[in-house]
Amino acid sequence: MENFAQAQARAPDLGETSAIPVRLVPLPNGPYEVTGLLEIARPDGDPIGAPASKVHLCRCGRSADKPFCDGSHARTGWTDGA
Ligand code: FES
Repeated sequence: MENFAQAQARAPDLGETSAIPVRLVPLPNGPYEVTGLLEIARPDGDPIGAPASKVHLCRCGRSADKPFCDGSHARTGWTDGA
């Protein structure tokens, strides 16, 4: 997986911030796929793991590894109702 420094290095120069936009896509009957320069933090602000350029966040509430998707949505037959 690409780390934060690698993602930042390939980010287009958008001015002072040199940031790439964050994109969030709800996958059909699955997690939110979030791409961009990301640092996921706990409620106290401590980062969870290394920064990433893509994560899948649980949308069904059934993951044992929240906020990340662990595949439980598929094992339990969760649907988004769309
Ligand atoms: S969306 Fe995958 S475990 Fe919740």
